[in-house]
Amino acid sequence: MNFVVLGGAGFIGSAFVRELNRRGIRPVVFDALTYAGRLENLKETDHVFVKGNVNDVKALDSLFSSHPPSVVVNFSAETHVDRSIYSPKDFVETNVLGVINVLEASRKYDFNYVHISTDEVYGDEECADEDSPLRPSSPYSASKASADLFVKAYVRTYGVKAIIVRPSNNYGPRQHVEKLIPKVIIRTLLNLPIPIYGDGKQERDWIFVEDTARIIADLIDKSQWKGEIYNLPGGNVYRNIDVVKTIGEIMGKEVKIRYVEDRPGHDRRYCMRTSLRYEVTPLREGLRRTVEWYLNNRWWWEPLINDNFFKEDVPWKVPNKASDGVNVATGR
Ligand SMILES: NC(=O)c1ccc[n+]([C@@H]2O[C@H](COP(=O)([O-])OP(=O)(O)OC[C@H]3O[C@@H](n4cnc5c(N)ncnc54)[C@H](O)[C@@H]3O)[C@@H](O)[C@H]2O)c1
Repeated sequence: MNFVVLGGAGFIGSAFVRELNRRGIRPVVFDALTYAGRLENLKETDHVFVKGNVNDVKALDSLFSSHPPSVVVNFSAETHVDRSIYSPKDFVETNVLGVINVLEASRKYDFNYVHISTDEVYGDEECADEDSPLRPSSPYSASKASADLFVKAYVRTYGVKAIIVRPSNNYGPRQHVEKLIPKVIIRTLLNLPIPIYGDGKQERDWIFVEDTARIIADLIDKSQWKGEIYNLPGGNVYRNIDVVKTIGEIMGKEVKIRYVEDRPGHDRRYCMRTSLRYEVTPLREGLRRTVEWYLNNRWWWEPLINDNFFKEDVPWKVPNKASDGVNVATGR
């Protein structure tokens, strides 16, 4: 099978490239290298890299004509909820219009399409099955839910061959420092306080990134490509505050918590059930491996840190667009 991985220089995409390599597959990676995408994430992997943007129809056409794929897995997206509150349109560009470009290409090039969605499309409180209604709360999750609806529409209307995968919160090596777990590890290491939204009792279901990559790769062999939806819960439901404290315990350091104004529209809880069966890494074990990776790979995260990381106050309030590439946490 010929694989093209869109957004393969990001956090989960690069873990997926590693998983393909473990299976003897050398994929083509297509990535715009936004602030979130880094070639460093693909260090020591076997791949062909093509720089390009899913919003560029010509670039997609040239990609698929020069590397005809049997499977395209799409991880490319704007992914940070805080940024989506400041600048929603960037999220529509990549997460909705970009997906439509890929769906159009799938009509022309007839590949099997793996669409990577999120548990956030279900909104909070209720425990969602794969056919539960979509109730997104943030501009980020609204953009992801819109894309899911387009995938379903393309399957039904044009007979596009696709599946939709909805993982819960991922964590592990190579996650950008703007996200909760790396931020807690690095700020604790640097003796900085950790801004926690609201009362910190929001619940998230955590899945180790290598588990996500393995489960997605397994799905490719067993799907019928008729628009099946797969929830990928991690089975590790924890309150944010408890995740933060557990990281402190693993690091053997005191975590300095500073409660800050809650993010508008903040979901209290994510919960999914799944039709799949799989094993996952227990949260404490995954966190231990993640902490170890960040401690041993300062070269990876130090370039992302600058003055703004030290000044960070209420993260969602910091003027911050995805399109200008400036990171709230880092100013990069
Ligand atoms: N991280 C999580 O906890 C999580 C959970 C559930 C679902 N997801 C979904 O998984 C996917 C991957 O998430 P991630 O955490 O690896 O994200 P990430 O932000 O680490 O990586 C996104 C990648 O997409 C690339 N990209 C962004 N815009 C692009 C464009 N217009 N054209 C081409 N490439 C572009 C970036 O350069 C980057 O390499 C996303 O669709 C996200 O919505 C993530």
